Amino acid sequence: MKKSNALDRQRTVYLDGAFGYRQAIPFVYAEIERLARQKLSPEAWAYIAGSAGLEQTARSNESDFQHWKIVPRMLRNVEERDLSIQFLGHTLPAPFFLAPIGALEMAHPEADLAVARACGALGIPYIFSNQASVPMEECAVTMGETPRMFQLYWSRSDELAVSLLQRAEASGCSAIVVTLDTTMLGWRTRDLDLGYLPFLKGIGIAQYTSDPVFRRLLEEPLEAPSGNRRPSFDAIRTLISSAQKYPGGFWRNLRSGIGRKAVQKFTQIYSRPNITWTDLPFLRKHTRLPIILKGVLHPDDAKKALDYGVDGIYVSNHGGRQVDGAISSIEALPGIVEAVRGKAPILFDSGVRGGADAFKALALGATAVGIGRPYCYALGIGGQAGVEALLLNWMADLELTMGLSGCKNIAEIHSTILHRG
Ligand code: GLV
Repeated sequence: MKKSNALDRQRTVYLDGAFGYRQAIPFVYAEIERLARQKLSPEAWAYIAGSAGLEQTARSNESDFQHWKIVPRMLRNVEERDLSIQFLGHTLPAPFFLAPIGALEMAHPEADLAVARACGALGIPYIFSNQASVPMEECAVTMGETPRMFQLYWSRSDELAVSLLQRAEASGCSAIVVTLDTTMLGWRTRDLDLGYLPFLKGIGIAQYTSDPVFRRLLEEPLEAPSGNRRPSFDAIRTLISSAQKYPGGFWRNLRSGIGRKAVQKFTQIYSRPNITWTDLPFLRKHTRLPIILKGVLHPDDAKKALDYGVDGIYVSNHGGRQVDGAISSIEALPGIVEAVRGKAPILFDSGVRGGADAFKALALGATAVGIGRPYCYALGIGGQAGVEALLLNWMADLELTMGLSGCKNIAEIHSTILHRG
């Protein structure tokens, strides 16, 4: 495992600069976004950067961090700095993890595999997406001892959910992260403008097409697709794409129509808006892994989750992709921390754009901080090396913010170091 050390990182970058070497990704966050936008197709950019509705929540996820100001403390001997934390029985080198993001092949051909390798190289946990482009087993084998988790979208098929839980256990996952906020896709205005959803092209459904239960479901007769459209160039492209994405040979897939069938089956079972609290014991019965609920924003839901015996609470509004106008994650965090009262770890994501944001989330009581879109952009710009560079940079940024604020370790980062401005 490489050691994160902010001063080494700074030195390396400045020395590289003196010898004319450029870094894998920029340090200025706006530049990362700009370069990623240049690299990605308009559809990929819309899907990844886009959020729900007017994107007000996506913006406030970022800007609400400014309501909190750090008040650094002086003369506290911060020569030795330690970013490590304990999380679900693991010692992590830093309080970061990578949040689940689907359809990563839109950002880079190596997709989830490149991200898993970057996390494995640095010991940073990765939550495999339910909508991944690479099956979880292939990612898991590249990660060695580095913790990974699996994000579950609870589909209409309980049998499929159980199969995914079993695969997550066999892949050495440390927890199941059940995403509660996406029982249906939000009103994604940029995607709607383009009429584009990656899954319909067979992109981002690899956890399904590699699953024995899903493949068995494909043998059942499917409901006929609605509408009676005339074949078009785009329809043929969609057909070709779904045949390319399905495992096995392209021509065979094209002839059998299995890729198109898989997409159709996915669209029929993906969304399950009728889940309720009383469904949770079903998951508990079918996995021995800790269960973390993702998408909790109300303190009463956090309390209820504890009543149902869950092992972790994940404060997130899905990067503003689901309910436009929803409370920002950082505004929701203090209420959840108060409700949880240290009884379970609290994961946090949405809007974190650098070390200072992570510091504030930790000060407000998050146990670990999730990185989302930024790693996806780094992947688009520089593949695995881009993701590793982003992680090293943010670890260095957090370490310097921590030390320069007078904290030697994560436990010393309390809410008392923040001023509500
Ligand atoms: C799916 O999880 C998405 O946010 O698009």
